[in-house]
Amino acid sequence: MIILGIESTCDETSVGIVDGGTRVLANVVASSSAMHEKYGGIVPEVAAREQVKVIVPTLLEALNRYTPGVRSGATWNTPGVSKKIDAIAVAYGPGLIGSLLIGVETAKALALAWNKPLIGVNHLVGHLYANWLDEKGSKSQRVKESKTPEFPAIGLVVSGGHTDLILMKSHKEFKWLGGTLDDAAGEVFDKVARVLGFPYPGGPEIERAARNVKSRISNFKFPMPMAGREDFKFSFSGLKTAVVNYVANNQGGDVSRIAFEFQETVCQFLAKKTFAAAKQYGVKSIVVGGGVSANRRLFEMFEQMATAQKICLYFPEGNLSVDNGAMIASAAYFHQNFLDIASAQANPSLYFV
Ligand code: KG4
Ligand code: ZN
Repeated sequence: MIILGIESTCDETSVGIVDGGTRVLANVVASSSAMHEKYGGIVPEVAAREQVKVIVPTLLEALNRYTPGVRSGATWNTPGVSKKIDAIAVAYGPGLIGSLLIGVETAKALALAWNKPLIGVNHLVGHLYANWLDEKGSKSQRVKESKTPEFPAIGLVVSGGHTDLILMKSHKEFKWLGGTLDDAAGEVFDKVARVLGFPYPGGPEIERAARNVKSRISNFKFPMPMAGREDFKFSFSGLKTAVVNYVANNQGGDVSRIAFEFQETVCQFLAKKTFAAAKQYGVKSIVVGGGVSANRRLFEMFEQMATAQKICLYFPEGNLSVDNGAMIASAAYFHQNFLDIASAQANPSLYFV
């Protein structure tokens, strides 16, 4: 089954085409993130206007990459193109309403024009399914025994808007274990980056600065969030305040060292919660997704613990950590939540619970 997946929840516009939930046939991503740099964060109105501009070119580019057999210049009604696609999927929430509307209405129009079923995908579930995709030519970051994750698994979503732990018993049975009480993991990377004088998005900037530091010094540490709590809730605002106060009291301080210590603390905190959940539920795999899963230090820390505890670890390959249409097409294949084309709507506050 070949599914065309549309992603437009935030500042990326993407169309992916995936066979059988795993084989990426095309995945085109356009981003307006550079346009938000000067504001230090995403401006919803700007993001939505960009979505409008790029959605059709992105769609056509994906169709062209997927159908090289059809004379170049394939468009949505080129004979033969739609025959090769079995369903249209769309991330219909959570996200920014203006951005979401563009993807949802485009998906509905395409499903109607091509007479294909429409499948709705929770964007956060999509991030986890980036780990089911095989992207040709990309370097594997997996500690793997089996090619795709085996159940039961613990899923960790770490994105700009969310931090969630999910027990995945099967494709059909997900249980939300907990999320953040305040900022999301990516959000705190972005906010701390701003305090340190880095542009948006801050995660990659902090990772880069942290690489300048080779080892820890014993008298400099930020407090581990929620010390002593054994539940699966997250909180990052205390850590953020600690960094802000440190910068204020030390005339800025050593930016690379602050970035390094901050990153160490966030990664350790995420690992601690995730591996505690993995142990409690005796899972076979850990599956991580969302923009922050692009962080190499996070992967290294998880890899070390997964190897010690003999758990299979999955991080998205290549560029599949960031928002993309292929992960939406994959999640659609395994979940098949069919929507009525006439009444389907974007849901900005869609969640696990
Ligand atoms: O999943 P995503 O692309 O969009 C949302 O659904 O929110 O995540 C974007 C977030 C941003 O906060 C960005 O700073 C963070 O992911 N991010 C990173 C890295 N790359 C992106 N955080 C830490 N390290 C990175 N290398
Ligand atoms: Zn996302």
